[in-house]
Amino acid sequence: MERIETLEQLRQWRSRQRQQSLRVAFVPTMGALHQGHLALVRAAQQRADRVIVSIFVNPTQFGPHEDFDRYPRLPEQDSALLQMVGCHALFLPNHETIYPAEHQTTVQVTGLDQKLCGRLRPGHFQGVATVVTILLNLVQPDTALFGLKDYQQFVLIRRMVRDLRLPVQVEGVATVREPDGLALSSRNRYLSPVERQRATALFQALTAAGQLYRSGENRRDVLIDQATGILQRAGIHQIDYVELCDPDTLATAPEQMTDDVIMLIAARLTGARLIDNLLLTAH
Ligand code: PAF
Repeated sequence: MERIETLEQLRQWRSRQRQQSLRVAFVPTMGALHQGHLALVRAAQQRADRVIVSIFVNPTQFGPHEDFDRYPRLPEQDSALLQMVGCHALFLPNHETIYPAEHQTTVQVTGLDQKLCGRLRPGHFQGVATVVTILLNLVQPDTALFGLKDYQQFVLIRRMVRDLRLPVQVEGVATVREPDGLALSSRNRYLSPVERQRATALFQALTAAGQLYRSGENRRDVLIDQATGILQRAGIHQIDYVELCDPDTLATAPEQMTDDVIMLIAARLTGARLIDNLLLTAH
């Protein structure tokens, strides 16, 4: 696996792949890699001849009181994992490579960045959209892959790539879960053993709503109340949202639902804020 730290090295690597007509798939990450990231790398390997992963803990997507300083940074462990799964290149840019001095340009996906997590994390999606645009411009991949656990992020990036006519194919990869259903996340390590147990309620709430919808209950608020009740009974009281939305646009689902909808949950435990989602199918 090639380790790339400078723009010059990245340009040389990219032009070598182009000269050999090799397709490149890109997995942008913030490191602290887990099986969810490795599933992205494996999916990338199916879609291209060469896979490049970036690790950059992007300061502009963290709010002032969020966990930027304590976000886990494990470059050597990450590098060993990537090597093990057969990743071809690891891009480890420093701050100046991504944000040159006096950087003044940002990217905003208006509307989509204000709902759900965007309402509670002002500026977060502007930070994500900006860094992903910069990374895509630098790496120039044929395909870029993102985890569907961060569903709003996926929809927003797909929209941005379409709107800006960026020449890259965006793909979402299914969430990887622990055996008890908890979605893998680099932030799960912040949970105490008691909270780790409680956190399984997110997936329980989602699957229970899915069953209820399939069994014929189609009132949006009934499904939301049921999921909220499951979280509360598990001892989760700081619920940022439980919402049902159109899977493509994230518009709020109608009161009486007929089509597939996505249920999205965000809740705060003492150690970490967790998000999860599930596509609910009507039949
Ligand atoms: O999902 C993430 O890890 C980050 O939001 C991303 C896409 C790498 C941008 O910093």
